[in-house]
Amino acid sequence: MTYKEQIDPARVPSHIAIIMDGNGRWAKKQGSVRLVGHKFGVGSVRRVTEAAQIAGVKFLTLYAFSTENWNRPAAEVSGLMSLLGSTIESEIAELIKNNVRVKILGDGRLPESLRKKLMAAEDKTKDNTGLTLVLALSYSGRWEIAETARRIADEAAKGGLNPEKVDEELFASYMPGSFMPDPELLIRTSGEYRISNFLLWQTAYSEFYFTETLWPDFQAEDLYKAIVDYQHRERRFGMTSEQIQTK
Ligand code: FPP
Repeated sequence: MTYKEQIDPARVPSHIAIIMDGNGRWAKKQGSVRLVGHKFGVGSVRRVTEAAQIAGVKFLTLYAFSTENWNRPAAEVSGLMSLLGSTIESEIAELIKNNVRVKILGDGRLPESLRKKLMAAEDKTKDNTGLTLVLALSYSGRWEIAETARRIADEAAKGGLNPEKVDEELFASYMPGSFMPDPELLIRTSGEYRISNFLLWQTAYSEFYFTETLWPDFQAEDLYKAIVDYQHRERRFGMTSEQIQTK
């Protein structure tokens, strides 16, 4: 039986977040430069976006570029920026056809031409009701938390918010990523076991799934396998197993 056939459609995670890792090592294994790995990584993005829609996932967040990635060699950074721009342009028609809504999450520190293309993609897909594809770009979890604190402090300083009212729910509502639910499942490829400053706030109770597969090799079945694995876990949210079973 395929993993796809093993999925229980009633318990598909509504939000899956992915740390797409291993492009560089994949390229090196082929004797190619790192950018070739990123290019093949785009193929995996396409496959996984389609697979997520088929499985009934509502939100798919991809860590495409972290704030720390700015420290990579300039040629790799500019290659990635142009790859992102050309990919969004070449894929936009397909995304619209498939009713996908594109959202960008990050500090906005991107080249102007890329920013325009991304804003156009967000705008053209804003009323779509299918999968929400969130691209985390120039993103880090600590940036997002600090940005939220800034927004709340700003509102309080203007007199629009009583600091006493700040609790977890209010904090979450001020976050740049407040449009999405917390991910039930976080996947990281390439055999690295780190969160790397990804969705720090939102992954408090996420199930983590790690695979040795390098991102450019990641197939639809790999996503389905992760979903099946998730469906075999017991999510206790700090309670006991007995409490969960009698709920
Ligand atoms: C991590 O592999 C990957 C990245 C930093 C970039 C991910 C970007 C893409 C897959 C391309 C475009 C994406 C979209 C959304 C269109 P790495 O370079 O850290 O690999 P390594 O750990 O083997 O060096």
